[in-house]
Amino acid sequence: MLHIEDLKVQIEGRVVLDGVNLDVPEGKTHVLFGPNGSGKTSLLMTIMGFEEYKVLRGKIYFRGEDITGLPIHERAKLGIGMSFQRPPSVDGLKLGELIHLIGCEEDKVEEIASEIKFEHFLNRDVNVGFSGGEIKRSELLQLMAQQPDLLLFDEPESGVDLESIVLIGKTISDLLKERDGGGRRYCLKKEREKRKRSGLIITHTGHILDYVDADEGHVIYNGRIACEANPREILREISANGYEECLRCLTQ
Ligand SMILES: Nc1ncnc2c1ncn2[C@@H]1O[C@H](COP(=O)(O)OP(=O)(O)OP(=O)(O)O)[C@@H](O)[C@H]1O
Ligand SMILES: [Mg+2]
Repeated sequence: MLHIEDLKVQIEGRVVLDGVNLDVPEGKTHVLFGPNGSGKTSLLMTIMGFEEYKVLRGKIYFRGEDITGLPIHERAKLGIGMSFQRPPSVDGLKLGELIHLIGCEEDKVEEIASEIKFEHFLNRDVNVGFSGGEIKRSELLQLMAQQPDLLLFDEPESGVDLESIVLIGKTISDLLKERDGGGRRYCLKKEREKRKRSGLIITHTGHILDYVDADEGHVIYNGRIACEANPREILREISANGYEECLRCLTQ
């Protein structure tokens, strides 16, 4: 689903990723750990295609196609979607309208929003004045409408209260993989086959691992993937001994 080769990325004249190699196979969910400022968000923004993240070297492939030079909207159309750590607010655009524009039938918008208890926000401008936890729900609802094949989540559970984490965690899990194999289809408009989806999730706390069936974990350190292992094992090592010790231990 996603194949990244020797990626070097610069933002505002500063190299933030240098030599990233990463594979996320179809139907698999991978988790990305790493200290603040290590390049996690930069990696997801580069996969999504934000122009400020300038690719100096390397390639990004999606379903076998080289997408390194494609603009964001083309990548979204191909089936890549992202929930942002800090999404913009959009004055004058109602969340409900956006969900419909993304691809959800008008009469379904309220129904899918109510699944994450967000139906009362549909008449508000997108993310304007939303609390931290509400923004995470807004982002998730947009992905439920888009139903991409590759889902990128940048800290989907950070700042979310403990009760809501259950709802968010289960929804992310359904989006990625329902019990019958494919990802859940929330909107009927897209009559395409149920497909196996893949996910790449950034987390600091690892709470999401309680809900999502994660296949592999990666630690990003100083702008490159420094180790790959079972995500729970990585979380345990980081919590007990910190990042450097985790890398020393897991890469031995
Ligand atoms: N527009 C920018 N101008 C200058 N530096 C930037 C810019 N955007 C990101 N950076 C820098 O790139 C580095 C990587 O940032 P990034 O947001 O990818 O980190 P992160 O791993 O997601 O961290 P966190 O866990 O805090 O979210 C940081 O040092 C950051 O300050
Ligand atoms: Mg980040």
